[in-house]
Amino acid sequence: LTAIASRGAAATALGGGLSALICGLTVAAAAYAGVGAVHDGRLEGVALAVVVLTPLAAFEAVAGLPLAVQYRQRAARSAERVCEVLDAPVPVREPAHPAAAPETPFPLEVRGLSARYAGQERDALTGVDLTLTAGKRVAVVGPSGAGKTTLAQILLRFLDAREGDVRLGGTDAAALDGDTVRRFVGLCAQDAHLFDSSVRENLALARRDTTDDDLRDALRRARLLDWVDGLPAGLDTLVGEHGARLSGGQRQRLALARALLADFPVLVLDEPAEHLDLPTADALTADLLAVTEGRTTLLITHRLQGLDAVDEVIVLDGGRVVQRGPYADLVAVEGPLRRMWERERGPVGGLVEQPA
Ligand SMILES: Nc1ncnc2c1ncn2[C@@H]1O[C@H](COP(=O)(O)OP(=O)(O)OP(=O)(O)O)[C@@H](O)[C@H]1O
Ligand SMILES: [Mg+2]
Repeated sequence: LTAIASRGAAATALGGGLSALICGLTVAAAAYAGVGAVHDGRLEGVALAVVVLTPLAAFEAVAGLPLAVQYRQRAARSAERVCEVLDAPVPVREPAHPAAAPETPFPLEVRGLSARYAGQERDALTGVDLTLTAGKRVAVVGPSGAGKTTLAQILLRFLDAREGDVRLGGTDAAALDGDTVRRFVGLCAQDAHLFDSSVRENLALARRDTTDDDLRDALRRARLLDWVDGLPAGLDTLVGEHGARLSGGQRQRLALARALLADFPVLVLDEPAEHLDLPTADALTADLLAVTEGRTTLLITHRLQGLDAVDEVIVLDGGRVVQRGPYADLVAVEGPLRRMWERERGPVGGLVEQPA
């Protein structure tokens, strides 16, 4: 950055210096010619001032040129970057004539879903089925790279299915406008973005017509209200760039409060506790399981703690569903979930605890 700044400064200084030099030389030349003319009697002495000052005034018009050249270069670079984004291949095909939005997104049905990222050799997801009815909560677990986030991306129409389909209340999601789908299905992401602004502004993004009571209610449900009330500036507390002034847990809770405030019919939570230490992660998971009770939720996680509260657990591995069913049934039998459970518990005094 220093190198770029000093190159820019050198160009500006050179441009400024050169135009001052040329201006000075022109004034000197005009003065020389003018004095000669006065001396020869071709010009009146009073008019000499005009001859000397005119070049000065004329150069004022071009004084901005060196800066203009610099701005032009800067704008060209910015335009290049914008074009890069515009020319990037679109990951989702929007329908030319979107279908009418269904009354309700329920049931949300995923059938035989396969997905592949552009330029990849193998599918990130293969043959996944999923049904979300109103109020149903499903947890998706599995190792890193299993395809959990990919499933979330498809539900939000950030990625197109290669095979199979997603239907919202009977309407094919691919026939709907992406924004329509995202009014039904909301995401609280692995690394939810917080803007360098106040708690209030970060929450109000979710909905335009919010009152302080709505904000406080969402904060209370995300168990953040006591903290906000304890701050001198309250809702107007600044969170810093990317929420740098908050702890990891507070950041995720604020993102959760925002998602709750938006009140999506279907809420997808992608590893909300991902970057937290285990006690904080488990406390957050417990709270969000409590707050999503009765709301349609897809909880993506790789911790099993608390999952007995959800209706169905889907275990993904290598893009395929390797096990599914109620948590209590899966943990009771030998299988992928049971092995995850054993790893999570770890040997206690050399023994593995029995499931409750
Ligand atoms: N943008 C992308 N481009 C190409 N391949 C991708 C992209 N995103 C993910 N993948 C690949 O797709 C597969 C599934 O990735 P995904 O992000 O869905 O895993 P995940 O289960 O969410 O993992 P984690 O627990 O680490 O978040 C992986 O093999 C990954 O390498
Ligand atoms: Mg992921």
